[in-house]
Amino acid sequence: MKFFLLLSAIAFCWAQYTPHTNPGGTSIVHLFEWRWADIALECERYLAPNGFGGVQVSPPSENAIINNPPRPWWERYQPISYKLCTRSGNEDEFKDMVTRCNNVGVRIYADAVINHMCGSGVSAGTNSTCGSYFNPGSKDFPAVPYSHWDFNDGKCKTGSGDIENYTDPYQVRDCRLVSLLDLALEKDYVRSKIAEYLNHLIDIGVAGFRIDASKHMWPGDVKAILDKLHNLNTSWFPEGSKAFIYQEVIDMGGEPIKGSEYFGNGHVTEFKYGAKLGTVLRKWNGEKMSYLKNWGEDWGFMPSDKAVVFVDNHDNQRGSGAGGASILTFWDSRLYKMGVGFMLAHPYGFTRVMSSFHWPRYFENGKDVNAWVGPPNNDGEIKEVTINPDTTCGNDWVCEHRWRQIKNMVAFRNVVDGQPFTNWWDNGSNQVAFGRGDKGFIVFNNDDWSLFVTLQTGLPAGTYCDVISGDKSDSNCTGIKIYVSSDGKANFSISNSAEDPFIAIHADSKL
Ligand SMILES: *[C@@H]1O[C@H](CO)[C@@H](O)[C@H](O)[C@H]1NC(C)=O
Ligand SMILES: *[C@@H]1O[C@H](CO)[C@@H](O)[C@H](O)[C@H]1NC(C)=O
Ligand SMILES: *[C@@H]1O[C@H](CO)[C@@H](O)[C@H](O)[C@H]1NC(C)=O
Ligand SMILES: *[C@@H]1O[C@H](CO)[C@@H](O)[C@H](O)[C@H]1NC(C)=O
Ligand SMILES: *[C@@H]1O[C@H](CO)[C@@H](O)[C@H](O)[C@H]1NC(C)=O
Ligand SMILES: *[C@@H]1O[C@H](CO)[C@@H](O)[C@H](O)[C@H]1NC(C)=O
Repeated sequence: MKFFLLLSAIAFCWAQYTPHTNPGGTSIVHLFEWRWADIALECERYLAPNGFGGVQVSPPSENAIINNPPRPWWERYQPISYKLCTRSGNEDEFKDMVTRCNNVGVRIYADAVINHMCGSGVSAGTNSTCGSYFNPGSKDFPAVPYSHWDFNDGKCKTGSGDIENYTDPYQVRDCRLVSLLDLALEKDYVRSKIAEYLNHLIDIGVAGFRIDASKHMWPGDVKAILDKLHNLNTSWFPEGSKAFIYQEVIDMGGEPIKGSEYFGNGHVTEFKYGAKLGTVLRKWNGEKMSYLKNWGEDWGFMPSDKAVVFVDNHDNQRGSGAGGASILTFWDSRLYKMGVGFMLAHPYGFTRVMSSFHWPRYFENGKDVNAWVGPPNNDGEIKEVTINPDTTCGNDWVCEHRWRQIKNMVAFRNVVDGQPFTNWWDNGSNQVAFGRGDKGFIVFNNDDWSLFVTLQTGLPAGTYCDVISGDKSDSNCTGIKIYVSSDGKANFSISNSAEDPFIAIHADSKL
C-alpha cells in the first residue's frame, strides 16, 4: 500500500497534466504554419523576453501535397509518413528550433496527427512534402510502413465509409473523418509506430503534444499509445517528466462523446469557452458581461485543471470546428482584444493565444469560400515572418501575440499567477471589473455609454500604468495612468468610443 501511494505521488507530480513551462510563463501561443527557422528566432527575440511559456507548432510529420485547391493549410492534417519534413522545415531545422527555444526557456508542443493518414481520394504518387511514395487506394504508406491491415475500414459500418452520424460513438471513432484514412489504433503495431514518432519528438526535446482529432479515437487507444512514451529529455526537464498532453475534443454538449472521457489521458480543449465568450461580447441572445461573474465550471465547462482554453483556434477562426459566427478573431480586432484580455486575466484554464495569417476572406451565402487558403507563400514555399520597425509582422502574418494589448495581458497573467479571483464589480450590464488578489485589476466597458466609476482594486497605493492603452517605459506610462489610493480604491474612466474600452493594471506596471 505504501509503495502504491509513493508511486501515485510521483505519477501525480510529473504527470501529463503539467505543461512544463518555466515559472512566469503561464500561456502558450499557436504559431500557425510558421517555419521552424522563424519560430526559433521568435523564441529568442520575442517570446522569452515577453514571458510566453511555449509554442504550439503545426504538424511536423510529412504530409500530402494538395494541388486542388492549391496548397491549402489543411494539407498538413493529411500525413504520409512520420518523417520530420514539411513546408515548415526539415528535421535539422526542427531540432535547431526545439534546442534554441528550450535554451531560452520556451517550450515546444507539437500538433500530433495520429488518428488518420491522408484522404482516400488523394492520387497515388510521390507528391508529398518529403517525396515519400504513398497509395491511398491500396492504403499503402511504405515510408512508415503501413499497409491495408493497419486501417479501420472493416470496423466501420456506414455505406460511405465516412462518419455520417455524430450521435453514434462507434462511427465517430471507427469511420473516416471526412474521408481521411482511419488508422486501426487497437493494433499494437500501429500504436508502436505512432509512439516511435512521438518518442522521436520527445527525444529531440518537445514538452508535449496537442493530439489532433482525439474525439475520433477511443480514449483507451490514446492511453495505450501514451503508455509507450519516453520521459522528457533530461537536458531541459527534470528526470521522470512526462509529456504534457492536450486532446482536441469538440464537445459543445449536444453529443454522446464527452470531453470528460479523455481526462485520464491529459488535458482537453474546451471549445465552449470561445463560443460562449464570443456570444457574450457580441451581446447576442441578450447576453451581458455581468453574467461573467461566475465564468468557469458554472457555465458547463470542464474542470479548470483539465481545460486548455482559447478565444479562437486555426479551425474555428475560419468557420470550421465549433462555435460558428460567435467566435471572435483578429477580423473583429476591437472585441477580440477584449476577449483575449478577459481570458488572460481570468483564472480559469490553461491559456493558448492564437497567432494567424491573413487570407482573402470572402463570404458567399454566409460561407467563407477562401477558408482553405494556406499560409503566405511564394509558389507554395512558406514566406518568412518579417518584423516591421514598429514590432508588428509583415508578409501577411497577423502576429496577434505581438499586439501590445495581448502581449501585455500575457505578462499580466504571469504576474497574477496563483492569485484569487477578487473584487468583482458590474453595473448589471456590460461594464465589469475584477481583481486577482493584490496583484492585478482589470475593467471593461462594453456598453454603449461611457463609464466613470470608483472601484476597490485590492492593489497597494501608487500610480500604475494601464497596459492596454500603453506600456510602462522609463519610469513613466506611455498610456493612461491610474492612481490607487491607500484604501485600494481607484477611479476609472472608459469612453465607449475608446480605441480599446478596457484598462488593466498590475504589480509590475506600478511606477
Ligand atoms: C504533383 O504536384 C505538382 C505541383 O506541385 C503538380 O504539378 C503535379 O500535377 C502533381 N502530380 C500529381 C500526380 O498530382
Ligand atoms: C444515429 O445514431 C444513433 C445512435 O446509434 C441512432 O439512435 C440514430 O437513429 C442514428 N441516426 C440516423 C439518422 O441514423
Ligand atoms: C536530449 O537532447 C540532447 C541535446 O539535444 C541530446 O544530445 C540527447 O541525445 C537527447 N536525449 C535523448 C534521450 O535523445
Ligand atoms: C451601468 O448600466 C446601467 C444600466 O444597466 C446604468 O443605469 C448605469 O448608469 C451604468 N453604470 C455606470 C457606472 O455607468
Ligand atoms: C511622462 O509621460 C507624459 C506623457 O505621457 C509626459 O507628459 C511627462 O512629462 C512624462 N514624465 C516624465 C517624468 O518623463
Ligand atoms: C476619484 O475622483 C473623485 C472625484 O472625481 C476624487 O474626489 C477622488 O479623490 C478620486 N480618487 C482617486 C483615488 O483618485
